[in-house]
Amino acid sequence: MNTRVLTGITTSGTPHLGNYAGAIRPAIQASRQPGVDAFFFLADYHALIKTTEDPARVARSRLEIAATWLAAGLDPEKVTFYRQSDIPEIPELCWLLTCVTPKGLMNRAHAYKASVDQNTAKGVDPDDGISMGLFSYPVLMAADILLFNAHKVPVGRDQIQHLEMARDIAQRFNHIYGDDYFVLPEVVIAEEVATLPGLDGRKMSKSYNNTIPLFEGGAKALRSAVMRIVTDSRQPGEAKDAENSHLYTLYRAFASAPESASFRQALEQGMGWGDAKQALCDLLERDLSAMRERYVELMAAPGRIEDILMAGADKARKQAVPFIARLRDAVGLRRLGGATGDKPAAGGKKAAARAPRFVSFRDDNGSFRFRLLAPDGEELLCSIAYADPKEAGAVMRRLQTETALLRAEGMAYSIVLDDAPVAHGPAAADARARDVALDRAREALQALTRAG
Ligand code: TRP
Repeated sequence: MNTRVLTGITTSGTPHLGNYAGAIRPAIQASRQPGVDAFFFLADYHALIKTTEDPARVARSRLEIAATWLAAGLDPEKVTFYRQSDIPEIPELCWLLTCVTPKGLMNRAHAYKASVDQNTAKGVDPDDGISMGLFSYPVLMAADILLFNAHKVPVGRDQIQHLEMARDIAQRFNHIYGDDYFVLPEVVIAEEVATLPGLDGRKMSKSYNNTIPLFEGGAKALRSAVMRIVTDSRQPGEAKDAENSHLYTLYRAFASAPESASFRQALEQGMGWGDAKQALCDLLERDLSAMRERYVELMAAPGRIEDILMAGADKARKQAVPFIARLRDAVGLRRLGGATGDKPAAGGKKAAARAPRFVSFRDDNGSFRFRLLAPDGEELLCSIAYADPKEAGAVMRRLQTETALLRAEGMAYSIVLDDAPVAHGPAAADARARDVALDRAREALQALTRAG
């Protein structure tokens, strides 16, 4: 089985060079490994935790971040790339998890505690300015991860505690509801990944206002930032301390080993800082200029990005929808008068009439088919055509004894045995209606397997 790797990107800013080298580039490389099933998503619900006063900023950031990842080479055919807010099963699961999460666990979350500490230091109410969104942030993050049963979650160090909480919450749910519903996710901290210094030598970060832009502003903005990198006052001709210059650290993050070695040597032999900056610009342009062109094209065609993200959401929901149905069932959110696990009352025509049922028929071409009908008579599935009635009967019986896979297919759905669809559901008006129908079909089959 493939390793499922999942990570989220909070959409609350414009990507800079540090984001690229530290997160985007390694994640895209990892997604190309064989045996990896990558799920990358825009954590736009998380963005609302920090940004409620600037909806335009949130909207812009979603676009910029999506365009950046695509321009940087993310292949949406290989990776499942989607927006958190297009997956209604995430907030749905978030609530199920919220109800098994001890409040005390959330009280210990670093992000929340830091805000409380700041308030205490200021002498204001400890919870001043703290929303329930910030407080419950780790539960939403657990839902992101657990809904897709991710095995590995690459994140920054600041997220380690959130991963521990996700495991803790998953374990509680599994324990309470008595099955291994959730995989326990493992945190992955990439040690070898570059943490780039910013213009002033501190970690490159929006909050220090020391970033080098990645694509925004074009080659001109990139160059003007590079020219502002702080260096010491050694003149051309004087030997430079390459190891301790952040200009060299930046260079190394984009150069091959031999290129880095000769750059270092040139600095030690007295290359001027101006020339060194020019060399860094050339190096960055070599790596980034083709991507920047793609970025500009994508930013000019937001409809194309929207289509890619909607296709990604479809792909993600193929897994999320059946899984959430199972979880709803686990916690007792079940349809009334049907699949409660109780057998229908003995005897009595009435009970039989209220149960879901299979009916066989011959179609206009003389082939043999069967239908699965809901308790109210609605058609949930219609089989493919069989020339041999015994074969149709055998498939019908298997559906009553085995757990077959139901899967969405456009606005319809089908049921699969031995990798081939054996029956199809009717097409619905939209995805939500299809999912409701698909749930009903699943419940009907479960009721029949239990009764059989
Ligand atoms: N909280 C993460 C961050 O700020 C982003 C994120 C949201 C995330 N949901 C996730 C990361 C799920 C990994 C998995 O970096």
